[in-house]
Amino acid sequence: MAVVNVNGRICAEQDALISVFDHGFLFGDGVYEVLRTYGGQLFLVEPHLRRLRESAAMISLDVPFTDAQLLARIDETRAAFGGGEHYVRVLLTRGVGEFSYDPRACPTPSLVIIVKPLPVQKPEQYAQGVRVALVGVTRNHPTSVDPRIKSINLLNNALAMHEGLRRGGFEALMKNYRGEIVECSQSNFFVVKQGVVTTPPIDAGLLGGVTRAYVLALARDLGLPVEERPLFEGDLETSEEAFLTSTTKEMVPIVAVDERRIGDGRPGPVTTRLLQEFRARTRGAGRD
Ligand code: PDD
Repeated sequence: MAVVNVNGRICAEQDALISVFDHGFLFGDGVYEVLRTYGGQLFLVEPHLRRLRESAAMISLDVPFTDAQLLARIDETRAAFGGGEHYVRVLLTRGVGEFSYDPRACPTPSLVIIVKPLPVQKPEQYAQGVRVALVGVTRNHPTSVDPRIKSINLLNNALAMHEGLRRGGFEALMKNYRGEIVECSQSNFFVVKQGVVTTPPIDAGLLGGVTRAYVLALARDLGLPVEERPLFEGDLETSEEAFLTSTTKEMVPIVAVDERRIGDGRPGPVTTRLLQEFRARTRGAGRD
C-alpha cells in the first residue's frame, strides 16, 4: 500500500487523485525521478534532484520549489508511510490547463510523490544473471523526446518492454537510430570487454543514470579501466561480461542477449567484484 502526496496533500493510495485535465495525464508532459533508501536513508539525493531539474529545464518546465522544499515534501510523505526501505517516485507535471500545447495554459505544475515499499529483487537474478532481449523498438531520437529527459512520457520504454517480455527477456535492450546499442527500457547497459568496463556515452541517446555514474566512479576507485564509447551488436559476441544498472535493481549481471551467450554464460569476475563493492558501500558504513 502506497502513501501519496498530491500537491502537498498526503493521502492513502486509493484517495490519491489528480485532474484528468492535468497535462501529465493528457500529454505525458512532465518529468520524474525514482529514488530509494538504504537503511532508511535516501540514497544519492543530490544527483537525483539535479537530474529532476535538468529534465524539467529540457522541457521548459519551471520547478517552483527549492531542493529543501522538495526534500521536505518527500520526508513528510515517507514519515506518513512508516518504516522499511522506501521506493520514492517524484513526478512533476505541467499541471492542469486547457487543451493547448502552449505552456502558458498551465500556470502551476503538479507535484506528486509516491512512497511504496522498495520492490524485493530475486536473489537468483544476481547469482545466476539474466537474459535480456535485443528489441526492434528504437530508442527515441535525441532530437525528438531526448532520452536524457527522465520524462513521464514512457511509451517508447513501455513498447520496448512489451516486446522484451514477449520474448522472455528480463529487460529490453534497445538500439538508437544509428543502430548502436544504448540502454535498456528501465536501466543502463554495460559490457566488460578486454577487461575494460564499457558503457555507451550519454550523447548516443540514453538516460544519464544515477547508478550508471555511481558504478563508473566505483570502477575507477577500484582501479578498473573504464570507457564510454559507442557499442554495437558485434560487441556482444566479443565481450566477456555484461550487466545493467538502475536505482531499484542496482547491478544485475547479464549472461545472455536472446540466444547469444555473453562470456561463459555466468556472472563474470569484474561484474561480481563491482557488485560486491556496490553492496559493501550501500549496506556498509561507507553509505553516503
Ligand atoms: N528507471 N534508463 C532508463 C530508460 C531508465 O528509466 C532508468 C531508471 C535508468 C537507470 O537510471 P537510474 O540509475 O538513475 O535509476 C536508465 C527507474 C528506476 C524507473 O523508471 O523505475
